Amino acid sequence: MIVLQRVLPLALVALTIASASAAEAPNRKATVSKAAAPGAMVAAANPMAVDAGLKVLKAGGSAVDAAVAVQAVLGLVEPQSSGLGGGSFMTYYDAKTKKVTAYNGRETAPAGATPEMFLGPDGKALPRPVAMTSGRSAGVPGAIAMLYLAQGQHGKLKWANLFGDAERLADQGFPAPRRMADAASSRAAQAATPDAIAYFTKPDGTKVQAGDLWKNPAYAATIRKVAAEGPKAILEGPIAEQIVAKLQQNPIPGTMTLKDLASYKPKATPAVCRPYKVYVVCTPPAPSGGPAVLEGLGILERTDIAKQGPNAQGWYLFSQASRLMYADRDRYYGDPDFVDVPMEGLLAKDYLDQRATLIGPVAGPPPKPGSPKGAGARAPDQTKEPGGTTHFVIVDKDGNAVSMTTTVESIFGDGRMVAGFFLNNQLTDFSFQPKDQDGVAAANAVAGGKRPRSSMAPAIVLDKQGRLVAAVGSPGGPSILAFNLKALVALLDWKLPMQEAVALPNLIAFGPIYAAEVDKFPPDVVAGLAAKNVKLQGGFGGEGSGLHGIEVTPGGLRGGADPRREGVAKGL
Ligand code: DON
Repeated sequence: MIVLQRVLPLALVALTIASASAAEAPNRKATVSKAAAPGAMVAAANPMAVDAGLKVLKAGGSAVDAAVAVQAVLGLVEPQSSGLGGGSFMTYYDAKTKKVTAYNGRETAPAGATPEMFLGPDGKALPRPVAMTSGRSAGVPGAIAMLYLAQGQHGKLKWANLFGDAERLADQGFPAPRRMADAASSRAAQAATPDAIAYFTKPDGTKVQAGDLWKNPAYAATIRKVAAEGPKAILEGPIAEQIVAKLQQNPIPGTMTLKDLASYKPKATPAVCRPYKVYVVCTPPAPSGGPAVLEGLGILERTDIAKQGPNAQGWYLFSQASRLMYADRDRYYGDPDFVDVPMEGLLAKDYLDQRATLIGPVAGPPPKPGSPKGAGARAPDQTKEPGGTTHFVIVDKDGNAVSMTTTVESIFGDGRMVAGFFLNNQLTDFSFQPKDQDGVAAANAVAGGKRPRSSMAPAIVLDKQGRLVAAVGSPGGPSILAFNLKALVALLDWKLPMQEAVALPNLIAFGPIYAAEVDKFPPDVVAGLAAKNVKLQGGFGGEGSGLHGIEVTPGGLRGGADPRREGVAKGL
């Protein structure tokens, strides 16, 4: 499918490798061109995508115009994380009206999906690698349809003119990023599918290496079609037919039909915004995980975490609020079009007061979900989320902002490729077990037309006058909630610049587990936490953060790119 040449001079290969390892260094400062006072900025997980976004901004495009260009390039150079075959949530700030809108481009289960579709003949959940590469795992992709809706409302340039970089890079080739090459050679089941092997294997039989010049003419052709026709290019016609045919293949064929694809509808709703001290934090509503992050903040607002700073007590409060946030999120969140999510109850003042009192002087057993107003009986959650996602943030010269988390779910989605892009396996974000042993339904059980629960929580922060303060978000599966909460606390309470906020060590407190980047925490913090029964342990189940953010300062925009990925923040 691809035409491949290894034409990079050795010096350039060496440079690519050197910059890749620089990207690993902790506390790397974000690259900020014209750092003096950038008035527009893009922060994303790959420099080629950032450059595509900046080009659009320079040509007079809006933040949403630039988002289209960034997504189109990310789908090519970061196919392990997002693309035309995936879904997204976007939080958008309009500087003129001061309104924050949530765009929902979440993948949707085909009409034929059933609550039992991830159970084997023995009634037990299918093994995840089996489910993840199955034809049942893909939802109708929504990222491009969502961007088309948002660009129609907030774009300044023509849709057709936003794909130049993606088309050129796909046709002429791009230096294979290290993360893409590593993912292609990883042991993930999706990297071992026939399509992934065909795409990532060179004529000499070896796998793509970082720095190889990589081409994807099929992607270029699809991008030209998307530029000309919008989302119809993939949701109707020959590419839609290929999607249906691909998902009908073994293992475990799915039920996606042309009608499922053609009926996809992205949504635009007001964002969920809650005050946090002198700020207002906005995220999309459920099935996004955004409101859970707002609950975490609401609990922390009732503590002295700001005064503590990132010391042992500060991290202790963070960890305990995180556990309470996760307990509620896991029990109550699902698609609000199908189940009642007691969002108002979970964010109500008296409920947050009560949750905050559960934080004692030392950590006890894992907290149970609470009983917010409006909560029905829900089975304990059995959802497991693996990893292939990315986050980017854009602020344009008018002060409009995009915070977008975009995903194919696992690396390379389900490993099935159509027209140069991978299809998602987002439906594995549903709970495989639809009910508990008493027959009580899980909020996140599968149903035809339903959108799976997500942890994605793209955030926008305003001041009380409705002016933009910051935008931030991350990939990371269930850890997203903790990653975003950390960045927000670091920025708003601990007053760290965005780059330091995103680079700060990660701690994910979830049930009985305190997963953390232990070596990055000062030893006195690790010891202080242990004394409070919070024993940090290494390992995230393979997923790190990919936090990207931009803050508004009196001197201009200040960006942050997570040193754990290979992105940058660059201004104009
Ligand atoms: O929507 C979700 O919650 C997941 N599909 C996100 C997966 C993810 O972030 C993996 N990241 N590396």
